Amino acid sequence: MKTLGEFIIENQNQFEYSTGELSRLLNAIRLASKAVNHEVNKAGLVDIIGATDQKNHSNEEQQKLDVYANQAFKRALINRQIVCGFASEEEDDFIAISSENDNKRNNYVVLIDPLDGSSNIDVNVSVGTIFSVYRRITPSDQPVSAADFLQKGAKQVAAGYILYGTSTILIYTTGYGVNGFTLNPALGTFYLSHPNLKFPAAGNIYSINEGNYVHFPQGIKKYIKYCQEDKNERPYTARYVGSLVSDFHRNLISGGVYLYPPTLSYPDGKLRLLYECNPIAFIAEQAGGAATEGKNRILDISPEELHQRCPLYCGDKSMVGDIDRFLKFN
Ligand code: AHG
Ligand code: MN
Ligand code: MN
Repeated sequence: MKTLGEFIIENQNQFEYSTGELSRLLNAIRLASKAVNHEVNKAGLVDIIGATDQKNHSNEEQQKLDVYANQAFKRALINRQIVCGFASEEEDDFIAISSENDNKRNNYVVLIDPLDGSSNIDVNVSVGTIFSVYRRITPSDQPVSAADFLQKGAKQVAAGYILYGTSTILIYTTGYGVNGFTLNPALGTFYLSHPNLKFPAAGNIYSINEGNYVHFPQGIKKYIKYCQEDKNERPYTARYVGSLVSDFHRNLISGGVYLYPPTLSYPDGKLRLLYECNPIAFIAEQAGGAATEGKNRILDISPEELHQRCPLYCGDKSMVGDIDRFLKFN
């Protein structure tokens, strides 16, 4: 079976004038993900579960694993001088990285949700990491600026996630389809287990936190009722883990849609456009699915702020189409 390392090198030629820079970046993410996987697996044995006394930019309590995972990816990407910029859900602002060697200036910025599904850590339920890669737009002899990070999702060069689940799987796209690699923990090697992933033809799962039902827009309330209607053979069923990576991955493999609408506590939805919605949307589209904020394609949104939130309807294309119609006509 092909390893992730081999796959990255083989696919380097898809990019004209490739210098191997993106390959090095993906390899750094592969390495850091193994460290985080190891730490996640030890939760309960070592002092890694529970909260810190810190809050992140979005005023959310940082978990110890949030901080560990952020450090692991930051170290892998910054210390090895692999990227020119780094932004994270767990950092207040982006970090510009200058190259010590003028002849070897880096061209990519990475945006990351180092640990997705933090509320699931303490209860042994799957968590993940989500990453997004852009090519810088500021000239390479200048430090990166906010504009490099605030590009439309459609400009992503690569995106992926790691799901620390029953097994650990790394999924990524560089715009040529989506491939999945499962970690063999005994060898510490990722193997190509899910080549050219596509959503199945007819999805039937809807994933939403129904605990927020009373505050959902009318169209979403009606869509949920439509999924629950008992007409002859009701095709729909609900599944909700509460970590986007897990919910999205299940829907990608089994066929379904993920919804995070605006709520009372989160009038713009809870998920972050840059660290969660954009990378997941890129993967969804590459797998034959769709992602909107209720009307427009997620990847067409012009970001204004690093930590901005956005509603997300993402997964099976025809289910996303149904949701957009329910929102439009209700
Ligand atoms: P994070 O742990 O990175 O803050 O993300 C949590 C997100 C996402 O993973 C999940 O889908 C969603 O929050 C769950 O929200 P609810 O608890 O409101 O359902
Ligand atoms: Mn998250
Ligand atoms: Mn997170």
